[in-house]
Amino acid sequence: MTTSLEEPIHGKAYDARLVRRLIPFARPYRRRFAGSIALLLGMFAADLVIPYVIRLGVDGPIADARADGDVGSALRELGGLVAILGAVAAIRLALQLGQLLVMTQVGQSILHDLRLKAFSHLQSLSLSYFDRNPVGRLVTRVTNDIETLNELFTSGVSVVFYDLVKIVGVIVVLLFIEPRLTGVALIGLPILVVVSFAFRNHARHAYREIRTRVSRLNAFLQECFQGMRVVQLFNQERRVLERFDGINAEHRKAHVRAHLNWSLFFPSIDLVSTAILAAVVWYSGLAIVDGEIQFGLFLQFWMMLGYLFDPIRELSEKYNVFQSAMASAERVFGLLDERSEIEAPEKPVPLEAARGAIEFDQVTFGYGEGPDVLRDVSFRIAPGEKIAIVGATGAGKTTIINLLGRYYDVRSGHVRVDGHDVRQLDPRALRRQIGLVLQDVFLFPGDILENIRLGDAGISEERVHEAARLVGADRFIEGLPDGYRSEVRERGATQSVGEKQLIAFARVLTFDPAILVLDEATAHIDPETERLLQRALEKTLTGRTAILIAHRLATIRHADRILVFHHGQLREAGTHEELVEQRGLYHRLHLLQSG
Ligand SMILES: Nc1ncnc2c1ncn2[C@@H]1O[C@H](COP(=O)(O)OP(=O)(O)OP(=O)(O)O)[C@@H](O)[C@H]1O
Ligand SMILES: [Mg+2]
Repeated sequence: MTTSLEEPIHGKAYDARLVRRLIPFARPYRRRFAGSIALLLGMFAADLVIPYVIRLGVDGPIADARADGDVGSALRELGGLVAILGAVAAIRLALQLGQLLVMTQVGQSILHDLRLKAFSHLQSLSLSYFDRNPVGRLVTRVTNDIETLNELFTSGVSVVFYDLVKIVGVIVVLLFIEPRLTGVALIGLPILVVVSFAFRNHARHAYREIRTRVSRLNAFLQECFQGMRVVQLFNQERRVLERFDGINAEHRKAHVRAHLNWSLFFPSIDLVSTAILAAVVWYSGLAIVDGEIQFGLFLQFWMMLGYLFDPIRELSEKYNVFQSAMASAERVFGLLDERSEIEAPEKPVPLEAARGAIEFDQVTFGYGEGPDVLRDVSFRIAPGEKIAIVGATGAGKTTIINLLGRYYDVRSGHVRVDGHDVRQLDPRALRRQIGLVLQDVFLFPGDILENIRLGDAGISEERVHEAARLVGADRFIEGLPDGYRSEVRERGATQSVGEKQLIAFARVLTFDPAILVLDEATAHIDPETERLLQRALEKTLTGRTAILIAHRLATIRHADRILVFHHGQLREAGTHEELVEQRGLYHRLHLLQSG
């Protein structure tokens, strides 16, 4: 998992292919983008005006007053220039504020669109994709990687543009003001550029190191918190703490190294820029003494020169922003390019009111590249029939359900519902016909009501209450502080397993699918809950085809027929009596359970 969070060592700062794909995301905001560029140009104009006004003041009224001693008129003139200076500074501030606001909006909007797209795309991918990709990696794609792109849009593109304009513009103006002085300054400039980029290169490695450490730390914490129960149960606190200590120390070292780099970077940059400034002072000092240039001009030149250093420093920084953005874009587009292995057919066979006939016809299946989990499995279930599936752990029972809902595709053979191969059906239409009550009921953040009707506003509250009443979930729900409006927290950590299953039964009744699938919890359930769940099951079974994956004999009681699986094969089928008579696998299971 950690490797997926690490950044590539080499990476292009500009990749035309990726940029072409990013442009459509920026396109809806092109007007505001252009506006922000205009604001930047306005800021640049203000930057040019300020040193010029200062020069006018120094070489005009101040120099005049020194020559003729008329302080009064000099002050009046100076007052006017100071007012202009204040006004320009205020305008620049307003432009800058506007620019930041516009760019933040644009960046966040693009980010929002990208996240939405990535999320909806992830939802469309088949479960096999989620088997291959750990949760942490997917979370990073949708959060960190997209966040990195934000930097590209908000500060990257426009700032780089601004900086380039500024560097070129300032050099042109400098040449215009005083060509020889500019020549002196420009001799030192390449050194500054080289030093900046050399250090950034170094810093990039240090940052990569930090990010790697941070992601290791995160991954470790995530695992530990999720498994806290196990950690405490097995008294593993000390061992886990030691491992955490190690990871934590690496994290600290990486940070210290990065900061060391920083603390060298700024002084070095300052050293080079001070040397350039010293050369300029030396040269212009002589020129002022000789009367070749005026002091105000020197001041203007000096301030403008200062404008040159920041963009150079910034550009080397942006290089890294571009580089990480390209790496992130690569990963995000990699995700968006991922095609679902489960493709809906072009012209699906309609399945409006399914009868609920199920057929497995010589089905062989395995997960990913793995071995066959089901081998040559064939059986039929008539509409309205109740089937129990039994078998040891890992026999392939849950896999049958995964194939029925076409969460995975078979390797060979056919799975048919109402006589149609599931690959001919629209997966959404198919899944709507299958009501699932799983071992581990998943509750969404939200209230109980929404967890039963799953956000389908077409389902009335009355219908939800009715369903809850029928399965006997109403008792515990109404006992909650806010009844049906009680919030479910942390995937239902505050509900018991039995309560969650009752909610799941209520879901099934509310949606009224043709097929009911129960994948029963192996966990021990107290007799009272067992009675409740059995009653809920009875209510939910009526009028439906059912597959009951059962560990408890009480559930098998409801079945018309029992299928016995062993190592991925259907080994026995028949009623309870018939199977006991056969004295085979089922008989043995039965003996084990009844003691
Ligand atoms: N997503 C998956 N990726 C890879 N292998 C899987 C996956 N799910 C299940 N398997 C493997 O497939 C086999 C059958 O698993 P399955 O979940 O169908 O068993 P089961 O009969 O439901 O067991 P249990 O009674 O414990 O629920 C097991 O060997 C299991 O390790
Ligand atoms: Mg299972």
